[in-house]
Amino acid sequence: MDGKFASHIPDAARRGALTEPITCGGPPGPSFPAGAVIGTSPQWLSILKRATQVAATQTTTCLQGESGTGKEVVARFIHGVSSHRRGPFVAINCAALPETLLESELFGFERGAFTGAQQSKPGQIELASGGVLFLDEVTEMPLTAQAKFLRVLQEREFIRLGGSRPVKVSMRVIAATNQDLRRAVAQGRFRDDLYYRINVFEIGIPPLRERGLDVLLLAQHFLEELARTNGGPVVELTPRAQDALLAYHWPGNVRELRNVLERAAIVCEGPVIDTEHLSVAGPEEAPSAGSTNLGTLERHAIEQAMRDLAGNKKRAAQRLGISRTQLYCRLRKYGL
Ligand SMILES: Nc1ncnc2c1ncn2[C@@H]1O[C@H](COP(=O)(O)OP(=O)(O)OP(=O)(O)O)[C@@H](O)[C@H]1O
Ligand SMILES: [Mg+2]
Repeated sequence: MDGKFASHIPDAARRGALTEPITCGGPPGPSFPAGAVIGTSPQWLSILKRATQVAATQTTTCLQGESGTGKEVVARFIHGVSSHRRGPFVAINCAALPETLLESELFGFERGAFTGAQQSKPGQIELASGGVLFLDEVTEMPLTAQAKFLRVLQEREFIRLGGSRPVKVSMRVIAATNQDLRRAVAQGRFRDDLYYRINVFEIGIPPLRERGLDVLLLAQHFLEELARTNGGPVVELTPRAQDALLAYHWPGNVRELRNVLERAAIVCEGPVIDTEHLSVAGPEEAPSAGSTNLGTLERHAIEQAMRDLAGNKKRAAQRLGISRTQLYCRLRKYGL
């Protein structure tokens, strides 16, 4: 971080706390190129703290968060700081495979288990032995597979499709979902006994729009990464572009941020990205000239003060003419 965003970056970040990538052990995955975990917001630091706490145990963990918030990043972080780091990190997306295929992928099969099974094959559970099995979109696991997977968590063993001999496994299980697991249970889509086994330790990952200045740290990280990949200097963001990134609501979270910057770096055709290069809608609730909605005006004034004063709450409260406690209440109220 070279002071480009000096007006926006809080003290902790300027001191360098966690602005440098943390390198996690284990094989880098497709969406985790350099093992980088970027963020200094209190929300993100508390996630890393919980992740580190659970990594020191064998406890099954469930990561809950909107799409693109970094669930796999956190899963790989847990793997990287846990005693399983020398073992594999095996990810399986329960939503990506049809029911029958998911079972054979998970549990493996013996020769002759079904038409076409000419050779026996180990499943992802076996392949994850000694490491981490990451079950992405776990709410999409069909009920029959859920019943079988429950046994993996309870007995630490399973039977290959078409097999009769139980196979013992030892691994850490991390599940992820962008849905409400409890609601899936209430709707009968997810077994409640599996829910209690999976959700022993839950980590909720907040959306990017609630992580304050992390947007700019991540933006800087992605722009540096793009420069490394494409060759050439790091493209910079104008202050107006930084404001636009901070004001946008990021429904696609970190993944969307990365895509927006990748596109912007192409269309800006130069060393600087400005607002016209960013394919983000303007701040959704920014008050239009003449807006009379008090809530909108208040939120905007608070956002503006926090941005101008680099997140310094004491000075922001002074500028807004309210007490620090009142500012904290309003920050919570508006999810800032
Ligand atoms: N804190 C972070 N630091 C660096 N890169 C991040 C961070 N969070 C997310 N990313 C990047 O953003 C992208 C999306 O992250 P990830 O795949 O972990 O999200 P997800 O929550 O698993 O998304 P989905 O719900 O769509 O599966 C990836 O390219 C990832 O490398
Ligand atoms: Mg994911």
